Amino acid sequence: MHPVPSSIDPSQPHTPLFARLGAEPFRQLAAGLYTRIDGDPRIRAMFPEDLSAQSDAVNDMSEFLIQFFGGPQTYSERKGHPRLRARHMRFPITTDARDAWLSNALGALDEVVSTHQLDERAHDEIHRYLVATSQFMINTDA
Ligand code: HEM
Repeated sequence: MHPVPSSIDPSQPHTPLFARLGAEPFRQLAAGLYTRIDGDPRIRAMFPEDLSAQSDAVNDMSEFLIQFFGGPQTYSERKGHPRLRARHMRFPITTDARDAWLSNALGALDEVVSTHQLDERAHDEIHRYLVATSQFMINTDA
């Protein structure tokens, strides 16, 4: 009646992804996302000038993802509670901006999956998170 997606094994306890993957896939996801945004005229102007692998933007995103997926809480030790939606309110995020952001994030995720040989379960968990959370960031119709 309610089939469980094949990538989820209901007999397995949920292990935070960080414990299985470590930090590197999340660092690569953040760097890959911002490399793509750097070349995306649809949303480039919203972001700071420096989107290189060493930039604050990549560092913030990478620490945030590591924390969210169960790793060290470095992001919050440095910056406090994420309040993600509130932190995005100063940017006008339309459905189009979200779609552009998400296409870059999913492109970066594909690259991480092939570099780190992520299994379907890890892929699906990150994919679902990116889709749902980016939707939640939409804050204007204009
Ligand atoms: C899964 C969805 C998303 C996550 C997890 C996420 C996460 C983050 C994080 C952690 C920051 C840094 C905040 C800080 O510490 O100051 C940030 C900044 C930012 N985000 Fe997002 N974000 C998401 C979706 C979006 C979307 C859909 C847009 C729309 C284009 C967007 C645009 C921005 C912009 C313009 C910044 C400021 C960049 C900077 O100054 O570093 N984000 N985001």
